[in-house]
Amino acid sequence: MGQLPDACGHHRVDDGPMSTSTEQPESFQIPLEAAEFYESAFVPAFFAQWAPILCSAAGVTAGQRVLDVACGTGIVARTAADLVVPDGTVVGVDLNEAMLTVARRVRPDIEFHQGNADALPFADETFDSALSQMALMFFPDRPNSLQEMARVVAPGGTVAVLVPAALDAQAAFAPFVDMAARHAGPEAMSLLSSYFACGDLDQVTGLVESAGLQMTAAHTRRGSYRAPSVDAFVTTEVESTPLLERISDDVYRRIRADAHMVLAPFTTPEGHVEAPFECNVVAARRP
Ligand SMILES: C[S@@+](CC[C@H](N)C(=O)[O-])C[C@H]1O[C@@H](n2cnc3c(N)ncnc32)[C@H](O)[C@@H]1O
Repeated sequence: MGQLPDACGHHRVDDGPMSTSTEQPESFQIPLEAAEFYESAFVPAFFAQWAPILCSAAGVTAGQRVLDVACGTGIVARTAADLVVPDGTVVGVDLNEAMLTVARRVRPDIEFHQGNADALPFADETFDSALSQMALMFFPDRPNSLQEMARVVAPGGTVAVLVPAALDAQAAFAPFVDMAARHAGPEAMSLLSSYFACGDLDQVTGLVESAGLQMTAAHTRRGSYRAPSVDAFVTTEVESTPLLERISDDVYRRIRADAHMVLAPFTTPEGHVEAPFECNVVAARRP
């Protein structure tokens, strides 16, 4: 418990809030079985649906050289690889060695490197597109990471990011986090809402423009978040953050019980959770 990665593949070995600038990359390493679980459970249920949207916003096409930043187990890299054939190339980069091990196992034909979005291990102007899906909110220095993405694309190339929209736009997550905060206190709100930290579309477009890029697309897309059951939804949300260590068994029991109520509109007759989920997509061109 508490040793599970969250759905982003972070593994918290410290006990601070979700994204502080003092964290060292080592604290992000997750066990291989967690990365395998991410690939077998979370990728098909959630992450895979966004990769074609991001690739399309970036205009990924045959022959391009594409970088997937914070690639995790490589879903965007795989999607791009199928679009750049026959003579394009795709490279993925991530902090987590375990994520990369799974990425290489699934698609041995794609190059995957260990590296930090703060200092991408590539020369200037190496790629036609630099993409990043569901990760910008975890980068400690977002302006710098966007500048890094801009640096490694050639003039005329594209930088594109996809991030969850704000918590108040999330029909299921907003009432769930509210309810958890009522039981566990305001700290629960910040721990459970870290995923939505880049949810302000204007703020993200501002950051992208500050990296010297010219906006070509900025919009919100609706997808879905699926979990096998309400209990599984709660387990993922609570046990993947330090919240678990900070609440009593009784508070956790109350969160579990009330989750059935707040998630009722999103629970199928078979007991699965199927909730809408909004993401913001921003793409920009390097002049
Ligand atoms: C939610 S996962 C998304 C993975 C993948 N893009 C996907 O859509 O499945 C976030 C990923 O960001 C990676 N990550 C977080 N901070 C990073 C950083 N500073 N540099 C590189 N990767 C980072 C994590 O290791 C994790 O694999």
